[in-house]
Parts: sequence; C-alpha cells; structure tokens
Amino acid sequence: MTEMRPVTEAAPQTAPVKTLALPDAQTVTFVKHWTDRLFSFRVSRPASMRFRSGEFVMIGLMGDPDPKTGKQKPLLRAYSIASPSWDEELEFYSIKVQDGPLTSKLQHIQPGDEIILRPKPVGTLVHDALLPGKRIWFFATGTGFAPFASLLREPQTYEDYDEVIITHTCRQVGELTYGAELIESLKTDEMLNELIGEGFWKKIKYYPTTTREESPKMGRITDLMRSGEAFADLGVPQINPDNDRAMVCGNLAFNLEIKEMLEGYGLVEGANSNPQHYVVEKAFLD
Ligand SMILES: Cc1cc2nc3c(=O)[nH]c(=O)nc-3n(C[C@H](O)[C@H](O)[C@H](O)COP(=O)(O)OP(=O)(O)OC[C@H]3O[C@@H](n4cnc5c(N)ncnc54)[C@H](O)[C@@H]3O)c2cc1C
Ligand SMILES: NC(=O)c1ccc[n+]([C@@H]2O[C@H](COP(=O)([O-])OP(=O)(O)OC[C@H]3O[C@@H](n4cnc5c(N)ncnc54)[C@H](OP(=O)(O)O)[C@@H]3O)[C@@H](O)[C@H]2O)c1
Repeated sequence: MTEMRPVTEAAPQTAPVKTLALPDAQTVTFVKHWTDRLFSFRVSRPASMRFRSGEFVMIGLMGDPDPKTGKQKPLLRAYSIASPSWDEELEFYSIKVQDGPLTSKLQHIQPGDEIILRPKPVGTLVHDALLPGKRIWFFATGTGFAPFASLLREPQTYEDYDEVIITHTCRQVGELTYGAELIESLKTDEMLNELIGEGFWKKIKYYPTTTREESPKMGRITDLMRSGEAFADLGVPQINPDNDRAMVCGNLAFNLEIKEMLEGYGLVEGANSNPQHYVVEKAFLD
C-alpha cells in the first residue's frame, strides 16, 4: 500500500530531512488549514506501529522550559488517528484553541517540523467492539469526525456492512469541508475502489447538518432523528438492534444525548471485551 496520497488535494509539500531529536518524534509531512479553527496534518508513521482504524494516540510538542529548572516536559493530548490502519503515514484533524496549551502552538506546525507521538493506540471506536449488523451509523459533531475519517477509508467497514451512514453536525458550513471533501475523494480513489470493490462508496449515505449557519440541512442530528426527519431524508427505517450498529464521537452532551436515544431504540453499548450494538468516544474532554 505505498501509493496513497493525502486526502487533502493541495499541492504536495516535501518535508526536508531532519535529525529527530525529540523522544518518539515524527516528522510533519503535510498541513492544511480548513478554517480559522480547524486544520489537518500528516506525519511519518513509526515503522513498528500497528493500530485499528478508529483508535487514538497521544501526540504533542515539548512544553515551555520550566522557569526555575529550564527543563522541558512533553505536552501531550489525545488525538484520533484520522487515517486508516493501512496508510503509510498518520493523519490528524485538529481544533485550534487560541489559548489551548497544545493547539495554540500545534496550529503553527509546518512540513519538516517534528511532533511527539506515543505509539500506543487505544480506543473503543473499533469494529471489534460491535456485533455483526447490516447498517453502521457514524455519528459525529465537530472534530469528532476524525475517527470516522479513518473508518470511512477502512476496507472492513464495507466488508461488514451493506450501508454506511455518516452524520456530521457542526455550527458552521466551513466546519463540514474536511469531511465533505474526504467523502467525495473516495469516489475517485483508484486504490480503494480496486481493493474494496468498484463503487464501494455507493454504500455511504452522508448527512451533514449545521446549527448556526444556513445550509441545506439545518438542526442537531439528535432533533432530526427524534422528529423522524433524518430517517425520512435518508430513506431508512428507525434504528433497531437487529440491523443497526453505531459509533458516536462528539462533545460530552451530544454523546450522552445520543447514547440515551440509541438505548431507547434498544441498542446496547459494547466494548472491545464485550462486542454489542454501539460504542462511544469523547471528541474532547468537556
Ligand atoms: C479520546 C480523545 C480523542 C481526541 N481526539 C481529538 C482529535 O482528533 N482532534 C482534536 O482536535 N481534538 C481531539 N481531542 C481533544 C484534544 O485532546 C485536546 O483537547 C485539543 O487538542 C486541545 O488541546 P489544548 O491543549 O490546545 O487545549 P485543552 O486544554 O485540551 O482544551 C481547552 C478547551 O478547548 C475545547 N476543546 C478541546 N478540544 C476540542 C475539540 N477537539 N473541539 C472543540 N473544542 C475543543 C474544550 O472546551 C477544552 O476545555 C481528543 C480528546 C479525547 C479525550
Ligand atoms: N464552532 C465555532 O464557530 C466556535 C467559535 C468560537 C468558539 N467556539 C468554542 O469552541 C468550543 C467547541 O465548539 P464546536 O463548535 O467545535 O463544538 P460543539 O460546541 O461541540 O458543537 C458542535 C456541534 O454539535 C452540536 N451539539 C452540541 N451539543 C449537542 C447535543 N447535546 N446534541 C446534539 N448536537 C449537539 C452543536 O449544536 P448547537 O450549535 O445547537 O450547540 C454544533 O452544531 C465551544 O466551547 C465553543 O464555544 C466555537
């Protein structure tokens, strides 16, 4: 699998070769800014690192020197790997929090720079945590799209399910672009079409919605499901435990709300050690 190109279509930027000085250092190969709050980037992948599509790792930069000792400590945060398990590089999709300890700095990385990446992937948004089903739902808000950027490029997703529904709710239209372009790019991805089967992407039903800026579909996905509008738009029956499986990644309130709804439809939460009907992960801590 060496012919992969970045999902982003900007002109490739070649990273200058540097001696790695940081512990667990990886080299940035590509950066694209999507809005003033969102960017994605790719880094080299540790040769021995294996992961399952949908998992997350700890990444970061060295913190500022301690004013007393002058010593620097790594400043690490959890990040979903947005690239699939077979990709030779690792991709991430990131928020820019202006006063955030990590992302106030991380947003300035450029090809050739180094980041720290602890090669210990973990997480619940993995196929292993779900029982077989017919239809998989990926529910994302904001940067919660990241693990699904991985799973949408994972062949097993299409081997395991007849239909793949991805919902993405953001405040503004521009916050949907990374996901929309990624999904569009699957249509012309020669390698994936050859590997998974020509036209595999036709299994995908993409349902983007916005809440604070006008777009073709307005509203929170939770409200749109409660009213039945989302099911009607998608042309699928209401979620049921016989056919439907779900993965959820968003802010805490969203996760709790959709969890309650899924339980109401009769789905049971699964885990790596106990595969069931749905799994949840936080897109950020609060
Ligand atoms: C399991 C897990 C996976 C994660 N995966 C990703 C990912 O793929 N991409 C990503 O950008 N972040 C992700 N995060 C959040 C990430 O760990 C950091 O919080 C984020 O990078 C900001 O770091 P910071 O040090 O700049 O600010 P922090 O001090 O960590 O956060 C400051 C504040 O910014 C807000 N915030 C933090 N992260 C986000 C976010 N992603 N979207 C909206 N608001 C946010 C919160 O209100 C938070 O209190 C994940 C978190 C968890 C727990
Ligand atoms: N996105 C921006 O333009 C922006 C700009 C400056 C600062 N911020 C700050 O950044 C932080 C994160 O913002 P974010 O926009 O990335 O993420 P967010 O607040 O988690 O919102 C992302 C999307 O999820 C929806 N949502 C929130 N709670 C939900 C629930 N319980 N059920 C269903 N949908 C739900 C939101 O709808 P609603 O709009 O209805 O809440 C929004 O469309 C916030 O603290 C925010 O104040 C955001």
